[in-house]
Amino acid sequence: MARKRIGLIGGGQIGGILALLAAQRELGDIIIVDIPEKESFVKGKALDITESTPILGCDAKLSGTSNWEDIKDTDVNIVTAGLPRKPGMSREDLLDTNIKIISNVAQQIKKYSANSFNIILTNPLDAMVYAFYKITGFSKHMVVGMAGVLDTSRFRSFVAMELGVSVEDVTATVLGGHGPTMVPLPRLATVGGIPLTELLPKERIDAIVERTQKAGTEIVKLLANGSAYFSPAASAIAMAEAYLKDKKRVFPCAALCEGEYGIEGYFIGVPVIIGAGGVEKVLEVKLTDEEKAMLNNSLEAVKKAVAETKL
Ligand code: NAI
Ligand code: 2OP
Repeated sequence: MARKRIGLIGGGQIGGILALLAAQRELGDIIIVDIPEKESFVKGKALDITESTPILGCDAKLSGTSNWEDIKDTDVNIVTAGLPRKPGMSREDLLDTNIKIISNVAQQIKKYSANSFNIILTNPLDAMVYAFYKITGFSKHMVVGMAGVLDTSRFRSFVAMELGVSVEDVTATVLGGHGPTMVPLPRLATVGGIPLTELLPKERIDAIVERTQKAGTEIVKLLANGSAYFSPAASAIAMAEAYLKDKKRVFPCAALCEGEYGIEGYFIGVPVIIGAGGVEKVLEVKLTDEEKAMLNNSLEAVKKAVAETKL
């Protein structure tokens, strides 16, 4: 069986970690695409990772390029092309620059890799995945935004730290747009099957919710020159793996809603099943009135960013 091929569009901070993780997990051969000025840099990253594979014990062919033809017929593309945040910037501040980059990327992927599953990370996430979908005209099943897997992983990490338990035993979900309006759902979080609400008082849960909503900004402040890259890469790789191995994983992802949660025509974080069919299904959860109001508030923020794409 021929190996799968994975296009990593953008070979910056997240792109490099994506390449390492995809190689380690033997998801397939990896093509890192960046702009011509960065071609040598991504060739260097690809070669450096290649030279680690004998030690890591994994087989993967890695290459770096600025030639879009090299992603011909890739199975999966993970898009991180675009500027990241610097301290003091919101994700929305990136829109004017990143919409131009995403337009270019979408046209090239449409030309060379029209049957692929596409995972978008570029911020502002919910608007950029919408733009990619509109420009490519791909099926809604084959276009998805990564945000909820990361936001949920942050939420789970903070719960595990607070209780001193294994992260593996904490499950949770986060809905809504990828920004401060996101909607962590402590009501649905569990620790080894026990509802979180029975293990922590409300004020501690509220503090964890707030830290989750601001977690991206916390990292931007600490790094002082860019945004998070290890955890976003791990999140996108879990989504790519779910598709390539038909795992039917249930993840919160920015998926196109067509009536689900009363949302029409927008990509926003909702629980979905990812398998060989891409985004196979949006799962609907009954929300409380308070959760519904929070999701609607988040939808308004997403609509505002989408309007700025003029698509
Ligand atoms: P980075 O600046 O390290 O890498 C971005 C790369 O994209 C650069 O190497 C750049 O040359 C490349 N690029 C620019 N235009 C391109 C084009 N037309 N074609 C191909 N490559 C192009 O940034 P980093 O840290 O990797 O972040 C990437 C994006 O991901 C940012 O927009 C950031 O805000 C976003 N992000 C999203 C997260 C999420 O949860 N959705 C989490 C963290 C970051
Ligand atoms: C994050 O949440 C900045 O979106 C990026 O880390």
